[in-house]
Amino acid sequence: MIGEQRYPHLFSPLDLGFTTLKNRAIMGSMHTGLEEAENGFTRMAAYFVERARGGVGMIITGGISPNEEGGSGAKLATAQEARQHRLVTEAVHEAAPDVKICMQILHAGPLAFAQHAVAPSAVKSRISPAMPTALDEEGIEKQLSDFANCARLAREAGYDGVEIIGSAGYLLSTFLVAKTNQRTDQWGGSYENRMRFPVEVVRRIRAAVGEDFIVIFRIAAMDMLQGGMSWDEVVQLGRSIEKRVRTSSAPTLPGTNRRYRPFPPACRAPPSPVSRGVLPKSWAFPRLPATESICLKLQNRYWLPVMRTLFPWRARCWRTQSL
Ligand SMILES: Cc1cc2nc3c(=O)[nH]c(=O)nc-3n(C[C@H](O)[C@H](O)[C@H](O)COP(=O)(O)O)c2cc1C
Repeated sequence: MIGEQRYPHLFSPLDLGFTTLKNRAIMGSMHTGLEEAENGFTRMAAYFVERARGGVGMIITGGISPNEEGGSGAKLATAQEARQHRLVTEAVHEAAPDVKICMQILHAGPLAFAQHAVAPSAVKSRISPAMPTALDEEGIEKQLSDFANCARLAREAGYDGVEIIGSAGYLLSTFLVAKTNQRTDQWGGSYENRMRFPVEVVRRIRAAVGEDFIVIFRIAAMDMLQGGMSWDEVVQLGRSIEKRVRTSSAPTLPGTNRRYRPFPPACRAPPSPVSRGVLPKSWAFPRLPATESICLKLQNRYWLPVMRTLFPWRARCWRTQSL
């Protein structure tokens, strides 16, 4: 096939130690609305089977909340809910046994349409009508154990892994940024403290699911917020997460978010086989630090000069896109 000749890395397998992706094309997380529809899981099974047959190496489902307060839509908190997810995982694995499917865990935090949205501090998002309740210590502990429970149930439901969304104004990202995290306890203040909750979520999830399960963390490489995360903070978060998830045989895929600019020639080599596969031109690699134990999954609109030439109107949209 022409694609395979032109992009040999993209179409080559990726060994994760305990499992292998047949290629490096990953379908990113997109909530379909079927998650909450009548008979939605059966319809979603058919939808994902089509994607799996299309040749993708791995699928990430749309976001599913770990509890009531994380969103008003579909959640995975009980064994009964896990049974519905089995419809999806079994259908995909039967139709395409070599395709992996991971469930995204999305706790919307202050953006939840839940009756009692929660956040690190009572700071209202500009895009949500509701003021969230600041979590107390007990509430934080509950969220952490709900994340771990959700990941454990995802494994029981037959998924090959989970993706944790740590970006986009949802719960985890509101802990990271001083503007939305005004706490003065161990969960706020210094960046070390603000990272504590997301990093602890990852640690608990890894402990709950074991080492032979894919764990992906979606980072906003650019959060595009005034007073948002600096580049150094993004890198520090990536390193802290890596430490919590690393095992000798189970490299983890942290997801990234937003777009990437071409990096100056002095920057280092691409960090992982995944990114080499996805973006074979050196000028398009992200500036995330190289590491041997971690793989990067890139997503969203890549800032490739060739696209600007081909689609000038889209390039303009990309530049003005904001959260
Ligand atoms: C209909 C739709 C639903 C989405 N749902 C989710 C979601 O549940 N979780 C998530 O992390 N991103 C979600 N996204 C964002 C996508 O993962 C992705 O970041 C976005 O489409 C931009 O990527 P693109 O530039 O390749 O289109 C959704 C996007 C769309 C269009």
